[in-house]
Amino acid sequence: MLTRLPSSTHEDIYRVVDPASGLRGFIGLHSTQLGPAAGGLRMRVYDSEDAALADVLNLSRGMSFKNAAAGLPLGGGKAVIIGDPATQKTPALLRAMGRAIEGLQGRYWTAEDMGMSPADMAEIARETRYVAGRDQGDHASGDPSPVTARGVCDAMQAGAMQVWGKADLAGRLVGVQGLGHVGWHVCQRLHDAGARLVVADMDAARAQAAVTAFGAKKVSVSGILSADIDILAPCAIGGVLDKDSIPAIRARMICGAANNQLAAQGDAAALMARGILYLPDYVANGGGIINVAAEILHIAERDSWVEDRLAAMQANMAHILARAKAEGVSPAEIADRLVAERLSARAG
Ligand code: NAI
Repeated sequence: MLTRLPSSTHEDIYRVVDPASGLRGFIGLHSTQLGPAAGGLRMRVYDSEDAALADVLNLSRGMSFKNAAAGLPLGGGKAVIIGDPATQKTPALLRAMGRAIEGLQGRYWTAEDMGMSPADMAEIARETRYVAGRDQGDHASGDPSPVTARGVCDAMQAGAMQVWGKADLAGRLVGVQGLGHVGWHVCQRLHDAGARLVVADMDAARAQAAVTAFGAKKVSVSGILSADIDILAPCAIGGVLDKDSIPAIRARMICGAANNQLAAQGDAAALMARGILYLPDYVANGGGIINVAAEILHIAERDSWVEDRLAAMQANMAHILARAKAEGVSPAEIADRLVAERLSARAG
């Protein structure tokens, strides 16, 4: 079921195949330097197996950075299943993935990512102990999305403080790309804070629901990135900030939940050159993994533990933004440097 693939960049990469259930996917362990590799399971349609492999490589590396930035004793990992969650997700397929995860004997812990729910985690938990984000059971943490959204909105306030001199988001025009588990909660929080919303989702019904619930303005999936807004919140897929989209962005600030928003290394500098404040995604979206970590680490006082770490995450973002401004470099560069320092301190 698990075939180890050669890698020069990751500790372990496995192809996962179970013909009986139709499971095809990958599990990537980028690093277990800080602890067991932890990161969600994603199910989506990919153009090819190579595209799915590239996704798991990027995402698992991103988890090493995210977990280190959040100060968690966890390494970076991720898993993907190739297929449409709406039509191809079956209990047998999820249980097969559970058996594959169990086979790694705790070196990788999974939880929800795109296309997955707490009910799916419960199915996976029938085969393995190494699953979090469950609704029930010891230390169950449930859906991480509301906590991810909270962290994103807290980060947005830290960014607003730097751009406009006040953290208050009331009256700001925020464009939210993707109205799924996280994006919807982001909209709810922003609406409650008095922000105005512009939204886009591949699922037209989802976008329409946001128009009804929040009085949002609906724009096309292609139009959201260049919309006339104050803040852009990518909450769908990665790689949306690239050489084509960056020149057209009109927002002053970007802060969202999506993983790996920058398509290439130089994109943070390109955004900075245009005077756009980009808040490093893996710092802004760490709330979910903090919530999940309380389950993995069996924290007894989970509410206060999560609160303390969310506060530390926001302080870290404020520190990153201040240091980037002082040094005249992008916040993404400072965040990467801080993570490298943490990893090398651990190695030393
Ligand atoms: P989800 O699957 O619940 O929602 C994604 C939404 O984006 C769906 O409504 C989908 O129709 C829409 N979408 C997909 N492609 C789009 C496009 N090109 N333009 C506009 N809309 C599009 O996923 P979820 O859980 O809300 O995650 C969103 C992003 O946040 C992902 O990148 C995920 O990796 C990241 N993330 C999620 C966390 C969580 O707690 N769920 C934690 C940290 C990061």
